[in-house]
Amino acid sequence: MTDGLFVAFEGLDGAGTTTQAERTAEYVDAETGRTSALSAEPTDGPVGTQIRRCLEGEIDFDAETLALLFAADRLDHIDRDIEPSLAAGDVVLVDRYSLSSFAYQHADGVDGDWLRSINDRARSPDVTFYLDVPPAVCIERLADDGGGTDRFEHAETLERVEAAYERAIAAERDAGNDVRVIDGTRSVSAVSDDIAAVVDELL
Ligand code: TYD
Repeated sequence: MTDGLFVAFEGLDGAGTTTQAERTAEYVDAETGRTSALSAEPTDGPVGTQIRRCLEGEIDFDAETLALLFAADRLDHIDRDIEPSLAAGDVVLVDRYSLSSFAYQHADGVDGDWLRSINDRARSPDVTFYLDVPPAVCIERLADDGGGTDRFEHAETLERVEAAYERAIAAERDAGNDVRVIDGTRSVSAVSDDIAAVVDELL
């Protein structure tokens, strides 16, 4: 049985994580002879559903409660989807993972060490792609998409989130984890070609 590969996509809102995760899934299925398993956080499972209700302003959780929910949703995601797919030898692609918590929840005032401790049962991806797009460009893209603004989609917030991502990426690398920073301001296909090249290298 071939080993699975665990890949996470990260970036600010509007950076293109969903588009690139989808394109990578298409690439894996068409070009590598392997099977992709694509999913996202927050998940559409029982915990993720409560998180989405909060992000949409339907219910309110304080920042620490929300951090716990993201961590719980992650363990549920691992248990339900990620581990079984890796065990089947799939290329597992997740649109957001732990780094999102280290960036967004920390920018929301939650203590960084505590965030690490509540996420320490979540296995590390084999590689994380951080799509690097400046906050101002993300805000423009979100406005062009006609999207509303959820809890995290404001310019000052995205600037704090970006700074927290930078620190979190440095910490991941110090811990020996593979994080690739990809210039996400280029065309969709230029970005996905870079990602595909790394996936090929790791398979
Ligand atoms: P997003 O992928 O933007 O969902 P959608 O495409 O449905 O808008 O994710 C929703 C938000 O959740 C995004 O603003 C980042 C935030 N988030 C966190 O704050 N912490 C986390 O741990 C995760 C996974 C996401």
